[in-house]
Amino acid sequence: DMMKDLLGLRELEKKLEADLGVKKVIVVAGNSDQDNWVKREMGRACISELKRIIEPEDVVAVMGGTTLAAVAEMMQPDPKIKKAVFVPARGGLGEQVENQANTISAELASRAGAQYRLLHVPDQISEEAYSSLVLEPSVKDILKLIQSACTVIHGIGDAKTMAKRRDSVNSFIDKLNREEAVAEAFGYYFNRSGELIHKQRTIGLQLDDLGEHKSVISVAGGSSKAEAIAAYMKYRPSDVLITDEAAAESLLNIR
Ligand code: BG6
Repeated sequence: DMMKDLLGLRELEKKLEADLGVKKVIVVAGNSDQDNWVKREMGRACISELKRIIEPEDVVAVMGGTTLAAVAEMMQPDPKIKKAVFVPARGGLGEQVENQANTISAELASRAGAQYRLLHVPDQISEEAYSSLVLEPSVKDILKLIQSACTVIHGIGDAKTMAKRRDSVNSFIDKLNREEAVAEAFGYYFNRSGELIHKQRTIGLQLDDLGEHKSVISVAGGSSKAEAIAAYMKYRPSDVLITDEAAAESLLNIR
């Protein structure tokens, strides 16, 4: 029955909080590998968590992906945050338009009735282009805004899935295999122990910017992501992890 199911999910949450060292874990029913509605349920949980912590004029930085797109879908109008600003956390990392951080921050803002700013950066950017781009006044302005974000919302991916989705070259896929990459978040790749293996160059938030003063909400589910979630939480335990039952159960098995 429903009471028993809810108790089961609460128990999973408590166990994961202890195991992963994450302050707050929210587990929704189902498996997002199989059912798309589960991503929207994680999205719903993410929006209510965001609304609980957000201040009226906060800056919220978001990443891309299909999970974050489902988060944006669940946003509802909210006059309290009409002055809040949604921004992409980082520049282009190779996604279809609907799954790009820019699109998702605009979507969140327009559904909430809040503000947004875009960051235009090509996906693959050379060292030279990178250093001149960050000097552009308009880019500088938005970078400052991004740095000031107090809340960051992001997805986590399986390393190989993400490398393929980004059309990475074979030599890079070989490197990920050799170094046993299992997780990807923010364009960074990690091994099972949560060690950083590769950084994709783009402007915006860098991993080192995720200090203690920023509240980080990670949203990732499906049993296929269990290893990735475990690895990333070793690198930087999030303030809030929103996941699903299938990922939660597999997570408890691999630890
Ligand atoms: C990407 C982010 O847009 O989405 C990645 O850049 C993240 O850091 C990924 O891992 C997650 O995608 P999805 O579709 O599995 O939610």
